[in-house]
Amino acid sequence: MYRKSYPWSDIIQARGVVSLYKDLELELITCSSTNQEELENNMYGSHKTDLIVKYYDQAFGISGEAELAWYLSMVDASGGPVLDLACGTGRLAILLANEGYEVTAIDQSAGMLDQFKAKLQGHSSELAERIHIDHQKMSDFELGMKFNTVICCDAFFHNLTVDDEISCLSSIVRHLTTDGHFVFNLPNPTCDFLLRSVASAGRDFETRGRYPLEGSSDNLLVEQAQSCDLQQQLITTTLRITRYDPQGNEVEKGESNWMSRYLFKHEAIHLLYGCGLEVRSLVGDYRNGPITEEGQLIFDVKLINTDIV
Ligand SMILES: C[S@@+](CC[C@H](N)C(=O)[O-])C[C@H]1O[C@@H](n2cnc3c(N)ncnc32)[C@H](O)[C@@H]1O
Repeated sequence: MYRKSYPWSDIIQARGVVSLYKDLELELITCSSTNQEELENNMYGSHKTDLIVKYYDQAFGISGEAELAWYLSMVDASGGPVLDLACGTGRLAILLANEGYEVTAIDQSAGMLDQFKAKLQGHSSELAERIHIDHQKMSDFELGMKFNTVICCDAFFHNLTVDDEISCLSSIVRHLTTDGHFVFNLPNPTCDFLLRSVASAGRDFETRGRYPLEGSSDNLLVEQAQSCDLQQQLITTTLRITRYDPQGNEVEKGESNWMSRYLFKHEAIHLLYGCGLEVRSLVGDYRNGPITEEGQLIFDVKLINTDIV
């Protein structure tokens, strides 16, 4: 249950930022709720139709060694069993199972989980047996056991409403052991981040990256266009993914959308507190550096009082 004594000062502060942008007469684009629901349910859909799913490992799940090493070190400190929330194609779950941890991995996308299961076939049966995959939403899940570590890498921001964030955190609290840790990352919505998001609204597609495709001479061009709803703190990203052969001919092309909801640093801290979790450490990058304009918000949190849940 959410604590009643929620401090609203950060929300008021966030509204202050909204009026600032309104004063600057920047364009706000808002999504209708039906549109949002449709987008939410179709994010990372089927790998047969959604090129994000098909090419996730080559073009999206590539944040690097430091990220994987940081999550592994956090699990080493608090131990297994581990719950990998919004596990995607199993990047972290497979790494952790390889280190001997029992991992339960959930995700709402059947397509991402199909890719994950296909990847497991290339690993030993001992490793595969340590991984338990479940098709569930992170906003409200029930797994019937507790975990010493819950991780949510590059995904908590896919909770698109305050209700979903609270419900997700409450589900996490129900699944943590008394000394368990929840570790996750969020983007850091600095002024620059907000200005860029608003300024990019309505603009043409911009290049996000170009990626060689393993086992082929083809390459992938990923372009993106964004719209931003400052009132709801939502960013909608449309990705255009084009695969080219070595001669530069288009082989495959598709568009997909994803949505994310950003949280301000203190808003996130209060939200966690309101749900019964306290911040043990908050760093700005995967080398445990300070929070900066360019970095993220990377949290290690623990239960504060199990009586309230
Ligand atoms: C950027 S990917 C991250 C995947 C993985 N954690 C990683 O680090 O590679 C985001 C994942 O969140 C999943 N997702 C989005 N909304 C979700 C929800 N409400 N419940 C469960 N999974 C969700 C997507 O299907 C996708 O697999």
